[in-house]
Amino acid sequence: MSFRILALGDVVGERGTGYICRPGFLSGIKKERGISFVIANGENSAKGNGLTPQSAQALFEAGVDVITGGNHTWQKSSVYTMLDDDARLVRPANFPGAAPGHGKTVIDAGGVRVLVFNVSGNAFMTEPVANAFECADRILESERGGYDVSVLDFHAETTSEKIAMGWHLDGRVTAVFGTHTHVQTADETVLPCGTGYITDLGMCGSANGVLGVKTECIMHKFTVHTPVRFEEAQGNEVLCGAIFDTDPASGKCLKVERIRV
Ligand SMILES: [Fe+2]
Repeated sequence: MSFRILALGDVVGERGTGYICRPGFLSGIKKERGISFVIANGENSAKGNGLTPQSAQALFEAGVDVITGGNHTWQKSSVYTMLDDDARLVRPANFPGAAPGHGKTVIDAGGVRVLVFNVSGNAFMTEPVANAFECADRILESERGGYDVSVLDFHAETTSEKIAMGWHLDGRVTAVFGTHTHVQTADETVLPCGTGYITDLGMCGSANGVLGVKTECIMHKFTVHTPVRFEEAQGNEVLCGAIFDTDPASGKCLKVERIRV
């Protein structure tokens, strides 16, 4: 029997978190689609941006099993202790070791050991970090034999770097998905050696603005070029992600399906 994983793209602000955490919403999707495990990128799930203990807790209570991160993970210092202490939170592993948190976790989900790891891209990202490909290799080596299913959230800007990572890990990781750009791509596939892949899961938040931010804020940035405070867009909220059907016996992915509701 397959082990079905739902991966949710960047949860943006109070709107995105509120939409996912509405009573019965995520639990309904899980039941309807036979989902065994949920991963959500939560680096911007707090009001404004960043992650807080409150936004993380709301996602966990709604049914998320592991929250992944990105360049905004450390925006709010209130979450630093939780990043260190809670095994359900991961942040990009190729940031310096002195940054709070950890880049990988293994969670036992009803007897299936799920390795979730998180790596940041290098191309066009604001923070210079260690090589993403070497980092992924090191994690797989260190965790060898300790998991049944493995999932990478590759938080990166360019489609090329994300696609290259998919090929790099094909046959060695069960599912590789991209986050960070907030726009869902239509390239979901199972690569030749059995890795489920999608370049970007998309966003969970308001589809009325620009990547979850009010249109007028972004227009100001592009047309006036002076600082502007970003405010969350409102209305027309969506949940974007992908469902990976996986086989814990072989560690391979059987099928990938995009989801947008
Ligand atoms: Fe990001």
